[in-house]
Amino acid sequence: MPVVIWMSLVGLTIGRPSLNYLENRFGEENESEEVRSEAIKRLLEVFGMEDPPAALARGHKQPPQYMLDLYNTIADVDGVTKDPTLLEGNTVRSFFDKLHSDQVEFRFNLSTVAKSEKVLTAELHLFKLRHQASLTFNRHHFCQVNVYQVLDSSKMNVSQGKKLLSSRLVPIHSSGWEVFTITQAVRSWMSDEGSNLGLLVTVRTLAGMDLKTVRFASGRDHHHSKQPMLVLFTDDGRRATSQESSLKGSDESAAVSSLPFPSPPRPSAGRRIARSTDYDDGGEMPCQRLPLYVDFEEIGWSGWIVSPRGYNAYHCKGSCPFPLGQNMRPTNHATVQSIINALKLTKGIETPCCVPDKLFSINLLYFDDDENVVLKQYDDMVAGSCGCH
Ligand SMILES: *[C@@H]1O[C@H](CO)[C@@H](O)[C@H](O)[C@H]1NC(C)=O
Ligand SMILES: *[C@@H]1O[C@H](CO)[C@@H](O)[C@H](O)[C@H]1NC(C)=O
Ligand SMILES: *[C@@H]1O[C@H](CO)[C@@H](O)[C@H](O)[C@H]1NC(C)=O
Repeated sequence: MPVVIWMSLVGLTIGRPSLNYLENRFGEENESEEVRSEAIKRLLEVFGMEDPPAALARGHKQPPQYMLDLYNTIADVDGVTKDPTLLEGNTVRSFFDKLHSDQVEFRFNLSTVAKSEKVLTAELHLFKLRHQASLTFNRHHFCQVNVYQVLDSSKMNVSQGKKLLSSRLVPIHSSGWEVFTITQAVRSWMSDEGSNLGLLVTVRTLAGMDLKTVRFASGRDHHHSKQPMLVLFTDDGRRATSQESSLKGSDESAAVSSLPFPSPPRPSAGRRIARSTDYDDGGEMPCQRLPLYVDFEEIGWSGWIVSPRGYNAYHCKGSCPFPLGQNMRPTNHATVQSIINALKLTKGIETPCCVPDKLFSINLLYFDDDENVVLKQYDDMVAGSCGCH
């Protein structure tokens, strides 16, 4: 249960910064500093990172609108996944063109994608500019847009030098985003980084003539919001194990009515939520779900996380006394343990524990080391309900 360990660590170091100052004696400060850095390291591991991405001097940097829209489609304001079936993998990465050519040539640096990530789909997003109305072309309604993978940059205008990835008819007078699927090329770049010589786009009339008047926005000459972009949908494999566990979980709790999804009650009093201290008076309270706000600003991560600013992880607290009612969502095992405890049949058997029995995923939108915007989904981050187990 890495989440449980992490929550207790976060509670230790982040929940009580003022305590650290009060107990500012020699040695102890060192020790708490160590605990803090260990806790932050563990928290990064939960988010699948070794080091926090470099805090960028990127005042002007805007995440691509596509990524913001995608995030808002998938996640609510707290980052909690609205519908787990919307995203196929668990990662979406966006890349801007590094070539900045005035030709329709693009190159994307994929060095931040882990070798272990499985590429599910790769899309080239190009913004088609409004056609410069020209009487000569009025008889054409469509043009053919071809996207090629460059195999040999010295032979780009012969067929041996490039490989056709995607071809489509596009209305000549349209403007806006055009999306081309180029998954195979990106997979080949992932297995051999050196083979990434970029992409070439040609626009022809239906008769096969070059059509110079149909243009796409380039990274060099056009507004940031129209820059050519590569979007990768990948999976880092971290989901596999937790899917098993959530399947197991749903078997166990099949008889128990679960919370309607996705509506973990939002705290009424502001975003800062009183921590568990309200109930520290002796464990009378029955097992229940209480707020636990994880604030990325407090942790020092607000420089690279775009959204959310923090999220309510909730925590489970309270006693699981005999007899366990159905509202305690007990497993059969917990019911038996509770009975053994009440009957004192065996020494040293405690009452069952109040723990999360349903967990939701959250989504993070962040800048990676190379200033690419990444959307990543993390399973089992929010306690959806608590039960006696
Ligand atoms: C903290 O530890 C370092 C060595 O690890 C030591 O040099 C330093 O004096 C210690 N500081 C305090 C306040 O104890
Ligand atoms: C890709 O980016 C990485 C990190 O920013 C850099 O080290 C590498 O040289 C780049 N590769 C190419 C081909 O530009
Ligand atoms: C093809 O490439 C050669 C040399 O790379 C160049 O001289 C020639 O103009 C190109 N042809 C076209 C139609 O672009």
